[in-house]
This record gives sequence, structure tokens and C-alpha cells, in this order.
Amino acid sequence: MKIYATYNIKGGVGKTSAAANLAHLAARGGYNVLLWDLDPQGAATYLFRVRPKVKGGSRALVDGTRSLGDAIKATDFDRLDLLPADFRYRNMDLQLDETHRPTRRIHQLLRPLDGEYDVVFLDCPPSISLLSENVLHAVDTLLVPMIPATLSVRTFDQLSGFVNDFDGRQPQVRAFFSMVDGRKRLHRDLMEQLSAERLGILRTAIPALSIIEQMAEQRSPVTAFAPYSVAAKCYEALWHEVNGAIGDR
Ligand SMILES: Nc1ncnc2c1ncn2[C@@H]1O[C@H](COP(=O)(O)OP(=O)(O)OP(=O)(O)O)[C@@H](O)[C@H]1O
Ligand SMILES: [Mg+2]
Repeated sequence: MKIYATYNIKGGVGKTSAAANLAHLAARGGYNVLLWDLDPQGAATYLFRVRPKVKGGSRALVDGTRSLGDAIKATDFDRLDLLPADFRYRNMDLQLDETHRPTRRIHQLLRPLDGEYDVVFLDCPPSISLLSENVLHAVDTLLVPMIPATLSVRTFDQLSGFVNDFDGRQPQVRAFFSMVDGRKRLHRDLMEQLSAERLGILRTAIPALSIIEQMAEQRSPVTAFAPYSVAAKCYEALWHEVNGAIGDR
């Protein structure tokens, strides 16, 4: 079971859009996929038309009263399941803090799903918190969407520092440019400079495209409702790059 998280300290950079499309593509490629919406905003839950209701809230999952398997829902897509978030996920940090091993709880919770799922995506809220430490312990790879702007680069460096200082098995960090406007000189210059200077930046970039925004109206990944669009092709290229040599099933 390979575990990815779409993560950035910054908000609104394309984490949920990437998680939804990559999860859909992985499932379409033959993997059994789970997408865990860890964000109290419940955007991924909404995109997949799943009810944002978790019996007992995140507390029941974190304290083990309810198993993850119990809370997982099917989506409209074969092989793609979703673990929904509701607004009570906003208290997850406090709930994690009350557990025996507060930084490893998410990892522990996911372990029994090994065998059932080939690929898991954690769609994270924009923050740096106890939940983030849990995510670092749990995942193989952090996928970090980054808008090419000076402040985003600063945030990426903070995030890399956080991972480097992390006391445990460090996940891979793979950043990709998101919401890129190729007409902007600053975007082009920053992308070129960063790709040369920083390790772990993927080749595929996701352009700023209005069809990606339409996911919220369609309540579907763009790779599903517009599979031949440029946007879908970009997410496909991203998934192939991320999934590497393993390829489709
Ligand atoms: N490549 C893109 N082009 C145009 N719009 C985009 C693109 N990617 C995401 N968006 C839009 O930008 C907004 C934020 O995207 P998204 O929800 O994926 O980001 P996020 O990082 O998950 O946000 P949050 O931090 O709030 O969870 C959404 O309205 C989405 O439709
Ligand atoms: Mg999001």
C-alpha cells in the first residue's frame, strides 16, 4: 500500500484538485484506491458527492471507537473509495493529542487497510500541526502543489525544513507547480530557477485552467468529466511521473 498526501502549509494551491484527479486516475488504472479527506472543509468529500457525515466525528476514528473501514464510502467510480470529513475534523489535533502516540495515530489507523487498498491519498488541510506530523509519519510521499510566486517558494522551503528536521522516517517530498500562467514572466522565471535550485520538483506543471474550477460544479474530477481536456492530460502526466516505474496495473 502506497500512501501519498497532498500537502502544503499554504491554502488554496490545488491540493484537493490534485488529490481528486490523481485518485481517480489511479483507480482508473486498476488500483484499489482510498481518498481520505482530512480537511474539515470537506472539499474532496463534496467533489465526490459523498455525504459529509462521520458517525461520532473524527473523535470516534481517532480514539478507535469506530474503525476506518466502517466510515469508508464508495464513490461513483469503480475501485475508488472515500473516507469523508465533516466539520468536526477541525478538532482532530486535540483528539490526536489525547492518544497514546499522538504523532503516529494516523499511521496506526491506516495499517489495517494494507491489502485492501493499493494506493491511499490523504487530502490535508492547509496547516502545520500535530496532524501534519501524523501525515509525515504515515506517508511515503508528500505531493506539494506550489504556485510559482516568491512567497510560495518561502513556504516550500519552510516545509522542506520541517521535513528535514522530522524525527522519524522521512517521506519523499515531491513538489509540482500548480495554477501556472505561462503568460506571466514571473511564473516562467521562478519555475526555471527553482527547478534548477531545488531537489524534488516534478517536471509536470498544472496550468491555471477554468475547467479545473468547474470540478466544483460538476462534482467530479476533471479526468472523469473531461478526459480529453488539457487539464486531464496534465493530471495524467503528473500521475505517471508520481507513480513512476510502477505504471498502471
Ligand atoms: N490549475 C487550476 N486552475 C484553475 N483553478 C484551479 C486550479 N487548481 C485549483 N483551482 C481552483 O482553486 C481553488 C482552490 O483549489 P483547491 O481546493 O484544489 O486547493 P487546496 O489547496 O485544496 O485549498 P485548501 O487549502 O482550501 O484546501 C478551487 O476553487 C479550485 O477549483
Ligand atoms: Mg483542499
